[in-house]
Amino acid sequence: MKVLGIDIGGSALKGAPVDTKTGKQLAEKHRIHTPGQLTPQETADAIARFASHYDWKGPIGIGFPGVVHGSVIRTSANLHPDFIGLDAGALFEEVVGSEISLVNDADAAGLAEATFGAGLNRRGAVLLLTFGTGVGSALFIDGKLYPNSEFGHLQHLGESWEKFISGAAKTRRELSYADWATEVGAYLRELENLLWPELFIVGGGISADHAQWFPHLKIRTPIMPAQFLNEAGIVGAALHAARSL
Ligand code: BGC
Repeated sequence: MKVLGIDIGGSALKGAPVDTKTGKQLAEKHRIHTPGQLTPQETADAIARFASHYDWKGPIGIGFPGVVHGSVIRTSANLHPDFIGLDAGALFEEVVGSEISLVNDADAAGLAEATFGAGLNRRGAVLLLTFGTGVGSALFIDGKLYPNSEFGHLQHLGESWEKFISGAAKTRRELSYADWATEVGAYLRELENLLWPELFIVGGGISADHAQWFPHLKIRTPIMPAQFLNEAGIVGAALHAARSL
């Protein structure tokens, strides 16, 4: 099946058509910058522009950075608050005119890795984390996703951990990889002690630089970069659509 996979992020929409049998992207990735917080309607318009870029009439899978129940968005920590409680799937379908599925962005990345990448054939508990605008998590048990885990919102000093250790926080706080990794290590140790996963997989933009910060982590659990690096969310959003539409 061919599905247009789109990853909605804090500062851009990015995506590409994906062959869901192989996980391969069928055309070069496209990106639309979204400065400021787009309203749901503006987001729908941006998705429509995205579809017309590829002249796309087929199904579309969308990864959204919040809790998603069916086609309804439940949380929106880093995007517009008007998404909360909205049937975004229905709005997007109406504006774009294609069949659309929605999935949490980190869960999408996890689906790509569990199906084709670093999590392939892994038994036990595997936790994928993304460090971008926020911190996303996808928890797999014997290869099956437990949807909408939100470990970026575990509390630290009275705030969500993501406020300290997201990729955006690293930039905002002007932290070196060594200093940032010291805090990420403390966060991962907390997760280790709560969940005892057998593997961590790291996605998001920062996973491409893993050689600069993995060595600074003092953790016992094996850790690997996502095989799709920052593209995992695109591929996984398409996979989720192929399975659910
Ligand atoms: C959201 C998650 C999302 C993560 C990464 C968090 O703020 O609550 O749902 O997966 O950011 O985008």
